[in-house]
Amino acid sequence: MRIISSVSEMQSYADSLRKEGMTIGFVPTMGALHEGHLSLLKKSIETSDKTILSIFVNPAQFSPSEDFGKYPKDFERDEKMAEELGVDIIFYPAKEAIYPNGYSTYTIVEGLSDRLEGKSRPSHFKGVTTVVNKLFNIVKPHIAFFGQKDAQQALIIKRMITDLNMDIDVVICPTIREDDGLALSSRNSFLSPEARKEAAFIHQALKEAESLHLNGDQNSEILIPKITDTLNSAPIARIDYVAIVDSETLLPIESTKQGALVAVAVFFDTTRLIDNILLTAVK
Ligand code: PAF
Repeated sequence: MRIISSVSEMQSYADSLRKEGMTIGFVPTMGALHEGHLSLLKKSIETSDKTILSIFVNPAQFSPSEDFGKYPKDFERDEKMAEELGVDIIFYPAKEAIYPNGYSTYTIVEGLSDRLEGKSRPSHFKGVTTVVNKLFNIVKPHIAFFGQKDAQQALIIKRMITDLNMDIDVVICPTIREDDGLALSSRNSFLSPEARKEAAFIHQALKEAESLHLNGDQNSEILIPKITDTLNSAPIARIDYVAIVDSETLLPIESTKQGALVAVAVFFDTTRLIDNILLTAVK
């Protein structure tokens, strides 16, 4: 496994792989790898000739009040996990390589970036699309892999790829969960033992919404209060939002009959967790 920190070296290496006719699979991450990331990497290794993992904690997607400074970092552990899995290259740039002095260009996907997460974290997706656009130009992938847990991020990146005529396929992989249903996230490591126990209510609330939907309760005005009640059974939980939206536009919908994305964001102490479930159309 090769570790590359220089942008120009990564670009030349990607060019040489492309010249040899190899397909490049790409998994962009902020490190602190867990089974969720590993599932994306496994998929890439299975389907691409070479797999590139990027590790870069992107300051542009954190607001000043967020946890950039304390975002978990352990490069040696990540490197070991990637090597054991069969990753070919880790792209591990310094902040200055991505945002040199005088940096002033941003990529914004309008509309989608302002909904759900975008309402609570106003400049978050501007930071995400900017860095992912840059990483695509550096790593030059044929296929990029993202997780369903960050459903809005995946949708926005797909929109950016279409709008900017990028020749990149996106594969969205299922959310990986703990035994009690909690979606894996690097931020789970911040949860106190009590908050960790209570965080299982998130998946429970989403699964309850799914069974109600499947059993004929498809009115958002009924489902949202039910989800809210279940989340509120966790005494530490502080709900940021519970939303039932169209899975392509992310705009609120009144009924889940034609299918829907149910998305929630919940604080446990200062740790903010997100999760979602896709409801399929019912006949
Ligand atoms: O999902 C993430 O870890 C980040 O938002 C990403 C896509 C690596 C961009 O920094």
